[in-house]
Amino acid sequence: MPKYSDELINEIFSQNDIVDYVSQYVKLKKNGRDYTGLCPFHKEKSPSFHVNQEKQLFHCFGCGAGGNLVQFVMRTEGLDFVEALKLMADRAGIILPENDEPVDDKLYRKKKRILEINKTAARFYYEILTKDNLGKAGLEYLKKRAIDSNTITKFGLGYAPDIFDALKKYMNRLGFTDSELLDAGLVVLRNGKAVDKFRARVIFPIIDLRGNVIAFGGRIIENIQKDGYKPPKYLNSPDTPVFNKGKNLFSLNLAKKDCSENCILCEGYMDVISVYKAGITNITATLGTALTEDQAKLLMKYTDEILLCYDGDEAGQAATRRAIDVITSVGGKCRVMQLKGAKDPDEYINKNGPAMFKEVIKNSLASTEYLISLIRKKYNLDTEDGKILFVEEASTVLSKLQNAIETDAYIKKISDETEISKEAIYAEIRKHKSSGKIAGGPKRTVRTNFTAKKQESGIVAEAERKLLSLIIESKASYNAVKNDFLPSDYSNELLGKLAEIVYGCYERGEPIDSAVITSKFSSDEADYVSGIFCNLETYTDEKNTIAQLVNKIKIHNLDIKIEQAKKEGDVLKLKELLDLRLRLGRE
Ligand code: UTP
Ligand code: MN
Repeated sequence: MPKYSDELINEIFSQNDIVDYVSQYVKLKKNGRDYTGLCPFHKEKSPSFHVNQEKQLFHCFGCGAGGNLVQFVMRTEGLDFVEALKLMADRAGIILPENDEPVDDKLYRKKKRILEINKTAARFYYEILTKDNLGKAGLEYLKKRAIDSNTITKFGLGYAPDIFDALKKYMNRLGFTDSELLDAGLVVLRNGKAVDKFRARVIFPIIDLRGNVIAFGGRIIENIQKDGYKPPKYLNSPDTPVFNKGKNLFSLNLAKKDCSENCILCEGYMDVISVYKAGITNITATLGTALTEDQAKLLMKYTDEILLCYDGDEAGQAATRRAIDVITSVGGKCRVMQLKGAKDPDEYINKNGPAMFKEVIKNSLASTEYLISLIRKKYNLDTEDGKILFVEEASTVLSKLQNAIETDAYIKKISDETEISKEAIYAEIRKHKSSGKIAGGPKRTVRTNFTAKKQESGIVAEAERKLLSLIIESKASYNAVKNDFLPSDYSNELLGKLAEIVYGCYERGEPIDSAVITSKFSSDEADYVSGIFCNLETYTDEKNTIAQLVNKIKIHNLDIKIEQAKKEGDVLKLKELLDLRLRLGRE
């Protein structure tokens, strides 16, 4: 965060109007309290992008993007916070004091330096592969895998020679120090000496949406085995100040312009490259880890539907189920492609060509249908028991669907194949649905594309979020809660941080300045925070809702402690907790 004072930031915000500025990008229409329009950060047909003039915040209820004016400028112009702030200061004729050096500048300079190092290293690897004798082994390997020179250039592939300090020496000569190379993850320490991390490997640069090389993957060339030790097939850059594995996708920079309708998501670098080479360009891959919420949200900004195309093995299937969960939990849609007769997309397309691959896309199953088909395989539908168990388990899947028409279609299908009545299936689904709801909840539910990091506390995080929204809306709500529920009581860290700021404002008698407060959060966090400020939910009975929410959260937290006490066998404590639980339950 920059060192600029809240007053200065406040001045910049008050001299610029978010509605005025955003109107240059988005056609906005007054709609109740807010202005709405088509979101500039994801593709959509009906407007879910809201700008709140009073709060000076934007929030998209479709993709979850949100923040204040400066954070809007950061996204649209690709700037960091300080740069965007300067731009808005300029626009308002405010001169930022020169000696007000932002604290973040050090990290900012470091990031810039790492990006420079990465770009230089990528060029080095590329030159070795394409022009140097040292790269022959790499080039032969890629040829064997049918990768032509156009594709090498398109993806900027390279080769790290089998020399322990080739890159290091080259970079040192250009003035990059060992310590900087260490920060970039390109060298590692061996007995206190810096040596190249990637050696004798084909190099896959990982490039972000702005074209920066942020990391590398390196693949060994078959059958190289050193001193009886088998090195990992792929080696990846560690997380660095410019790279976070779980937040980036391979080749999204190339896919983004072709994937507005749908985007294939697969497991490997080579899958992406082979499929892309065959002319199917809407494809991306995770970076050697399970799909994260951040990655799903990122991808959903560019595409309406994700086509999961993982490897056909057991691990790939398990990863598919997890990916469906992740995508659904952040409000996305996905289908599952099923490859027959090949272990992965790379092998499939090389064997069968693009036309057959497109058939696989056409025959992909909607995620719900896929999940139900997996359940169907578990049971024998010729027996009554089998039918019942199948319907019970399928109902849990259907209870998570948001769309009534879709739910109805599946119910009909399941009813037809099991001869169990539609009514009975409905009842079963309702049972699952009601177990996850808050009584007396909002009249209107809004999708927030953010789920708390800790999955198990999802419902509670939701209750905490609502509670804080209500507190922000009125001091009366704050007064009702302040002694009962402290910032430290929020189990969601981000909410705790926001609560601390908000409670502090109330205590000091200051106004809740949403735009300035949102500045205290990173862009990612601002997505969530802006959603809390721009909450669209209305409550019939605020006081009662607050009491219910607090109660619900407390019971949840108590349940965790009870479990703990049970595990520890602390009988006295357990009794005390259970008494408390009983009292709360009655309230
Ligand atoms: P796979 O083992 O499926 O490899 O790993 P692949 O993509 O089919 O590779 P080829 O065809 O043998 O070259 C899928 C992805 O998992 C990560 C890489 O990102 C890889 O592309 N991975 C795999 C690692 O990070 N480390 C490993 O040792 C293996
Ligand atoms: Mn493969």
